[in-house]
Amino acid sequence: MRTNIVHPGADELVYEIREIVEVANRLESLGLNITWENIGDPVEKGERVPDWIKEIVSKASLENSSYGYSPTKGLLESREYIVHERNIEGGIQITADDILFFNGLGDAITKIYQNLNPKARIIGPNPAYPTHSSAEAAHADSGHITYQLDPKNNWEPNLDEIRRKVRDNKDIVGILIINPDNPTGFVYSQETIKKIVDIARENDLFIISDEIYSNLFFPESGMKKLASVIGDVPAIAMRGISKEFPWPGARCGWIEFYNRDKDENFNRYTKSIIDSKMLEVCSTTLPQLVLPRVMKDNRYFSYLDERIKKYERRSDYAYEVFSKIPELVAHKAKGAFYFTVIFKEGVLNDGQSLHIEERYKDIIGPLLGESSLDKRFVYCLLASTGICIVPMSSGFNSTHMGFRMTLLEEDDQKFEKTVNTIAESIKDYIG
Ligand SMILES: Cc1ncc(COP(=O)(O)O)c(C=O)c1O
Repeated sequence: MRTNIVHPGADELVYEIREIVEVANRLESLGLNITWENIGDPVEKGERVPDWIKEIVSKASLENSSYGYSPTKGLLESREYIVHERNIEGGIQITADDILFFNGLGDAITKIYQNLNPKARIIGPNPAYPTHSSAEAAHADSGHITYQLDPKNNWEPNLDEIRRKVRDNKDIVGILIINPDNPTGFVYSQETIKKIVDIARENDLFIISDEIYSNLFFPESGMKKLASVIGDVPAIAMRGISKEFPWPGARCGWIEFYNRDKDENFNRYTKSIIDSKMLEVCSTTLPQLVLPRVMKDNRYFSYLDERIKKYERRSDYAYEVFSKIPELVAHKAKGAFYFTVIFKEGVLNDGQSLHIEERYKDIIGPLLGESSLDKRFVYCLLASTGICIVPMSSGFNSTHMGFRMTLLEEDDQKFEKTVNTIAESIKDYIG
């Protein structure tokens, strides 16, 4: 090209959760049986969407209007339902005008960072969900700025680090939390969110709270949405149906704006997000149409309760197994459906390996040299056992060495076998 056509932030766009699939597919084509533990799609892992939800969806698909465009912000009926639910929960009160639908939260995340002044930065958790960290880094053409979720302290965020980084870097305009968190399964207590909101208030920042798992929290977690403590601080909360119904293929999520009237600059920024959605006309109509019908149904929350119980049981099992290995740090999840394991410092080195059949070595061998130490373990595990998990450092923009698996395997025996195989492989690997 006569001038460089590559966006300066292009190298920041990394999504290891899917990239590892390419390597696994190559191994599979040579005969390796793959256990997919990389992606958070309950449907892919065998969960059955209940028939009553499918019936609501199929009835809606017979309505002619479900084939048309919807209003840019989303169907009024759906936004009004969300507002009603939000406002009876207490905390901040909003109107249908404060809601904007997207084609999945992935779309919302892209728009939120794309529309931010390139100089303005959002500080987010480490480990980080890569769609946020990559989109934020790409918008600024600079590495994502993070605060620690501390594995030595039950994944609690390091609030002193947030305070210090916010004080020292005037470009930071917002704080991101993911609650419940992906990948750690951590849930921010109301007290902790309050402290983060205070930091935002004191420093004239706004908050982004990704709450896509906010109805998938475990009973003792103390989960509260940002809305309960946000007070007068400007914020964006993000929700969706990908994990809840679960219907990730619907590509349907929404954001809620809080306190737009409290800050003119924030208000202008939110208008730019709405305007950029307007250029696309609207988001998918059918999932919006069924959203209130499904969520209002009295079977909905008992259905979610059943799923939550399964995830908690699996998290307890994984904790039992991994916490017995002294070289690891593992905590029970408090919500969502992931389990993260960290290798203690100094445990991994580049001389470790697992038994790998000759036919797979040609694919894996060349990848090992250029990989971080946890990715090296993940590739060895993949080629040796077929289990496909995601490395912490490159997969979740993290300074920690570890990996994430899911709590989605529907076959209990298979789930337990996978956990035990990973644990045994870790012991073999570290010697
Ligand atoms: C924390 C978090 N936010 C957003 C998303 C994106 O969800 P969607 O399917 O709505 O794009 C995911 C998907 O895994 C997620 O884990």
